[in-house]
Amino acid sequence: MSEHITVVQDGAVLRVGFNRPEKKNAITSDMYAGLADALQLAQEDDAVRAVLFEAEGDMFTSGNDIGDFMAGVSGLSDPDATPPVMRFLIGLASAEKPLLAAVQGGAVGVGVTMLLHCDLVFASETATFHTPFVDLGLPPEAASSLLLPRIAGHQRAAEMLVAGRKISAARAYEFGFVNEVVSPEALAETAIAAARDLAARAPTALRTTKQLMRPDREVIIAHMKQESAHFAELLKSPEFREAGMAFMQKRKPDFSNLG
Ligand code: COA
Repeated sequence: MSEHITVVQDGAVLRVGFNRPEKKNAITSDMYAGLADALQLAQEDDAVRAVLFEAEGDMFTSGNDIGDFMAGVSGLSDPDATPPVMRFLIGLASAEKPLLAAVQGGAVGVGVTMLLHCDLVFASETATFHTPFVDLGLPPEAASSLLLPRIAGHQRAAEMLVAGRKISAARAYEFGFVNEVVSPEALAETAIAAARDLAARAPTALRTTKQLMRPDREVIIAHMKQESAHFAELLKSPEFREAGMAFMQKRKPDFSNLG
């Protein structure tokens, strides 16, 4: 288990936390493995009735570790493999028990797209949501290119996925993937109270309801795999190389001579 993912059983709630605040909770391959293991544990352990994602520090997560991407550690450059990130994403899409998230500070990349698989999402007033995939020379993942238009409508999804605009918590609420915006001080308490409430509900009825709300789970997973094939392709592209180098060198990418 990665030291940067905390997994704590709090009554019937499994609290899964990002804990790499010095790197803005950027998610490494090891961390994806920890997240995937936690979801598997939740699925298999009858004592777990709900999962709550939360984070240490001033950000929820800055998304995939860009250094990992550049070093090919993500495993995504092999479209036939099921690397830890895919195990995690498929685990999210297949989860039978309720998933909740408490988002403070920024959520970037997969930090946003994972929320589209959650049932209840709470955000602090200071939270922001940013999916700069195109700016990194990459396509979206986690079936977000299917789920975000479905939840928010095409134009609003394009604002995030195509134009790469960072949006506020209030706007994310308006888009429909955040249930409630609360003060930073109230976030943890609000989210755990909601998780305990779900965990106390009739478990079979709850699982059945969740399943009925996602009749196309297999379609979602197939879409995820399709995105992943494009992701693998674009990870090898000059556009991604330029964007990755620009991030490392703390400068703006220059795509003017590419494409
Ligand atoms: N991957 C790897 N390292 C990351 C990271 C990521 N996704 N996000 C942040 N870090 C690292 C920074 O490199 C920096 O490391 P250093 O202290 O060794 O230089 C440290 O975390 C702190 O980040 P910093 O950029 O100094 O913080 P900030 O508050 O100025 O900015 C962000 C925060 C999130 C806006 C900025 O770090 C960022 O844009 N990160 C990349 C986000 C991204 O594109 N994710 C991928 C989406 S697919």
